[in-house]
Amino acid sequence: MSRELIDLYSDTQSQPTSQMREFMARASVGDEQQRLDPTVNELCEKTAALLGKEAAVFLPSGAMCNHVAIKTHTNPGEEIILDKTAHVRHFETNSYAVVSGVGLNTLSGDRGVYSGDQLKEAVRANDNHMGISSLMVVEQTTNLGAGKIWSLEQISEVTSTARDYGLKCHMDGARLMNAVVASGVDAKLYSRYFDSVWIDFSKGLGAPVGAALAGSREFIEKAWRYKHMLGGAMRQAGIIAAGALYALEHHIDRLAIDHENATMLANLISDIPGLDIWPVETNMVYFDPTALGTTADAFGKKLLKNGLKCSTIGRQEVRMVTYLDISKQMIIKASEIIRQTVEETLSE
Ligand SMILES: Cc1ncc(COP(=O)(O)O)c(C=O)c1O
Repeated sequence: MSRELIDLYSDTQSQPTSQMREFMARASVGDEQQRLDPTVNELCEKTAALLGKEAAVFLPSGAMCNHVAIKTHTNPGEEIILDKTAHVRHFETNSYAVVSGVGLNTLSGDRGVYSGDQLKEAVRANDNHMGISSLMVVEQTTNLGAGKIWSLEQISEVTSTARDYGLKCHMDGARLMNAVVASGVDAKLYSRYFDSVWIDFSKGLGAPVGAALAGSREFIEKAWRYKHMLGGAMRQAGIIAAGALYALEHHIDRLAIDHENATMLANLISDIPGLDIWPVETNMVYFDPTALGTTADAFGKKLLKNGLKCSTIGRQEVRMVTYLDISKQMIIKASEIIRQTVEETLSE
């Protein structure tokens, strides 16, 4: 009998729904490089309005939004201040160094959230021996911090310190809409503290491709040059932008279901001895199984054999992420697989 694999590897695994595919198939398209694709233009206008910015540019991926934003804000030899867990640092092939020629100055925040005082300590003195601090990055929600939400107060504090030192402020908002739905805080309120902010359509929002970077009209004009430089200027991109437009219309409010499911999973496994479960704030469940005498990697491999796919972070953390293809029944089944895998591990 074939057994369905439950895939909690990432919210990037979401499949476009049949309604989304139909909407994409009907999209009006044009030459995006010449800014003549009506669907891309509509998506950019809607994203800019959602984030309270003057303009936005559509890019093929979230990583490219970070590359373009960093390149637009900085000059070679400068430095970015960000948390040590940031996606920009770990999972973007050090493009900040290659594309922008900048270095990183990392902070040890609380699950990815750092303070104004930490930022202040890190800003470089005006000294010819050192790099120039020119940009700070906030990741909302924090991926390696288990989907933790930066509060408005924390954002206000760090960005006001950044302004005191003349730093530009950029938000990696890959999962900003998860923060918006979980906290009830409007996206514009989170975004207003930043010179640039982007959201990803291909994560919890469930579109197959794309992200949009927003900021002032002047910033976006400059960003367009680097979109071309990196090969991110497209042709009839409306076909994919339509998936993103559909997601903005239909898939924001339902993120609450993903958050409920993540909390449900954490609750269902909370009594299993040997699992150190991190607090759940949005759509991620992190736990450390090493008290069972195993590593995250070995435990993840056993889960996979038992029918549950997850990702592992370093030696210690197992990560599970909920999204629109994951039902409550799957969550119950996932919790049973975790329990069974713990029992197997203990009996070895
Ligand atoms: C916080 C964060 N930033 C950036 C990215 C990159 O997004 P993309 O996969 O669309 O390039 C990711 C992807 O997982 C992410 O989690």
